[in-house]
Amino acid sequence: MITKIHNIKNITTYDPILDKIVVENTDSIIIENGRIIKIGLEDEDWIINHELDAQQTIITPGFIDSHTHLIFASNRSDDFSNRISGKSYIEIAESGGGIKSSIKSLRNISKDQLLDKCLKDINNIVKTGTTTIEAKSGYGLTLEDEIKSLEVIRDLNEESTIDVVSTFMGAHDFPLEINNKNDYVNLICNEMIPEVAAMNLAEFCDIFCEKGYFDHEQTRKICNSAKEHNLKIKLHIDEFEDFNGAYLAGELKAVSADHLMKSNSKGLTHMAKNGVVATILPGTTLFLGLDTYANGRKMIEAGCDIALASDYNPGSCTIYSIPIVMALSCLYCGLSIEEAFKGVTYNAAKAINRQDSIGVVKENYFADLLFWDINSIAEIPYWFNSDKLSMVMKKGKLI
Ligand code: NIG
Ligand code: FE
Repeated sequence: MITKIHNIKNITTYDPILDKIVVENTDSIIIENGRIIKIGLEDEDWIINHELDAQQTIITPGFIDSHTHLIFASNRSDDFSNRISGKSYIEIAESGGGIKSSIKSLRNISKDQLLDKCLKDINNIVKTGTTTIEAKSGYGLTLEDEIKSLEVIRDLNEESTIDVVSTFMGAHDFPLEINNKNDYVNLICNEMIPEVAAMNLAEFCDIFCEKGYFDHEQTRKICNSAKEHNLKIKLHIDEFEDFNGAYLAGELKAVSADHLMKSNSKGLTHMAKNGVVATILPGTTLFLGLDTYANGRKMIEAGCDIALASDYNPGSCTIYSIPIVMALSCLYCGLSIEEAFKGVTYNAAKAINRQDSIGVVKENYFADLLFWDINSIAEIPYWFNSDKLSMVMKKGKLI
């Protein structure tokens, strides 16, 4: 099956060879079996099965949301009400709200109901241009409920229109029924990770390394077990205070380290040296009503590659729109439009280890494409409601 896209205004994409955003004026894109096989004027006689008129839109790569907690069961608007009347995220968590309340509801929902809820979410998410999403478990915190969450991620790959990259996050919090924190760390290392790996249910392992959650020693231990079972590492670090998480992320050679609101320069330099993608989540800062946004400029100066993601979850951020996240990163984190665009395409692909197949518009890459009724990519964060997005294509098919 060969598809030809014609009547394109231009293709705007990051080019990894030229190391910059390029605007290519081109005539057509030829797609076969979900991949781009040719860009530009044809010098071969393709047998075209299907033609698509781009109607003079700009084509960009589909957005990649490299950090979400999509697999949750119920809403936490009570937390929101408590926050706006003055309680902090940590105070709400300590009084039984927060992640712990999401654990209760996830344990009580059936796998089918959970799948249904996530499919509905994805239907909304694709309308804002996301064509690949990372999703974490982490609201189950028993072997059974973590497996249930990861099986939902597996099924979403079959039943939804987009790709869902799976991350095991048993180390999201300590469950209430556990008396000794190290017993839970041992359960993660000795039972959960081996089972998740044996069932081939995850590609990454993520840990909430923060004061009151998992400390450095516990984080190292879980990482070692994950690596032994061929899971790659992602980390939540320095969200509420500087816990020296950035330095640890460098030491553990995580694929990406996320949040970084309070990270210090030495740690960021160590991340850059070890190739850890710095993922910032400004939607969370906005939604929590905080004023210390991650300093993206400082990270770029330290040499880090920056990805932007939503952190979509029921407690600290219900924003899933990547254009909104781009706008926040430009307004509050010191990124340029080009840096934000690279952060939701090429660098976001790097944050999930997919930089050789998605995130740029290039021959041999998947045809995950967005068609925009705009004049330049500055209009993506500018019209951040995504209403200028006229078509979304996943692996060569319009969705
Ligand atoms: O990334 N920080 C830890 N996890 C999420 C919040 C999850 C929740 O509140 O349910 C985050 O912000
Ligand atoms: Fe998160």
